[in-house]
Amino acid sequence: MKVLLIGSGGREHALAWKLAKSPRLTKLFAAPGNPGMAECATLVALDVDDHAAVSAFCRDNGVTFVVVGPEAPLVAGIADRLRADGLEVFGPSAAAAQLEGSKGFTKDLCAKYDIPTGAYRRFTDAAAAKAYVQAEGAPIVIKADGLAAGKGVTVAMALPEALAAIDDCFDGAFGAAGAEVVVEAFLDGEEASFFCLCDGTNALPLASAQDHKRVGDGDTGPNTGGMGAYSPAPVMTPEMVERTMKEIIEPTIRGMAADGHPFSGVLFAGLMITEKGPELIEYNVRFGDPECQVLMMRLQSDLLALLHAAATGTLDQVNASWKDETALTVVLASKGYPASYDKNTPIDFIPADGDATKVFHAGTALKDGKLVATGGRVLNATAVAPTVADAQAAAYALADAVKWDNGFCRRDIGWRAVAREKA
Ligand code: AMP
Ligand code: GLY
Repeated sequence: MKVLLIGSGGREHALAWKLAKSPRLTKLFAAPGNPGMAECATLVALDVDDHAAVSAFCRDNGVTFVVVGPEAPLVAGIADRLRADGLEVFGPSAAAAQLEGSKGFTKDLCAKYDIPTGAYRRFTDAAAAKAYVQAEGAPIVIKADGLAAGKGVTVAMALPEALAAIDDCFDGAFGAAGAEVVVEAFLDGEEASFFCLCDGTNALPLASAQDHKRVGDGDTGPNTGGMGAYSPAPVMTPEMVERTMKEIIEPTIRGMAADGHPFSGVLFAGLMITEKGPELIEYNVRFGDPECQVLMMRLQSDLLALLHAAATGTLDQVNASWKDETALTVVLASKGYPASYDKNTPIDFIPADGDATKVFHAGTALKDGKLVATGGRVLNATAVAPTVADAQAAAYALADAVKWDNGFCRRDIGWRAVAREKA
């Protein structure tokens, strides 16, 4: 099978690396890809916003299956266009991608199908939103409705912060994404990410992970796209997984189909494990980044077969098997991230792959034959080992072997699970 993978981050490098191991693969293209992905894919300089050009590339190069990594092209309808042109696509339609593209859409679905989530209201004007927040009191959560690159959420521990966040949204801090605001009850508990493949009708549970969103050690400082992750998340016990499937994932799949937009692709549930059990914080319609990197390190099955089954309505015919070990990834980011940072800083050395270690590329590029950092999140030092503590030690040894003067990382990725392991 000839496959085109869309995207250029650490998530897509991990997907490419795993897809390349499939005996069914005859050729892997990546658009636009990154220098790390060039080890296992042919990079193509396609404008992925130009859906007609992507479709024409597939036709001209014998590609029959397209795997879409990031959410933006999905929300923009790339899967619809490619399917209409006769291609098989891993990733939801634009209508189903609303699960990530509109927080209000997801909250309404939860209300309709009795899926546990924080109580909420949707607003299109600041005065009404503020009156509601004042009546509810803090802590409370303010969310821009649309895609805001992970920055549209304010968990306000006090009222002034909540009121300011409402003004920010309606004053245009998140552009069109903030034209509608969702105000949501604060959920208290431990967060976990849970991933399932879906084919419109069936859901196949994959695995759990925990991300580290804040930039600083001890979960301090501003939010980022994610500074490190590990899988599995100990808080997702077999009982919690079963409840999540029954109370959250399965009603979502049934509800989406009943409402006329069946979901296929990967459903990434951001969960809060509260005293009552799992509650939905949000859905994403793609793999997490950097959660995907740790999932791929643990996956033993043929990724191409799994993604293709999701795309073709045959998920009931496949199984996913996983290493019992823990995988852990440390994100190396440009100094200054998530605020402004220098670009094109030289990366002098990246360790080669080991049996249980791998450095994935995210924001890297080749300039005059030299590897440079061009993004905020740049490399993911990833390791798999029998215990969390061993995976953590191996991932940091790998991160510390990278020679890149302008890079930094958190030093405590996995702290929660390491503490549990010691207890
Ligand atoms: P999101 O972009 O929706 O993932 O939200 C970013 C982060 O805000 C989440 O990972 C949570 O840590 C936090 N968050 C979002 N909604 C809630 C909520 N209702 N209660 C507590 N924390 C929340
Ligand atoms: N790491 C969080 C995300 O991909 O949304």
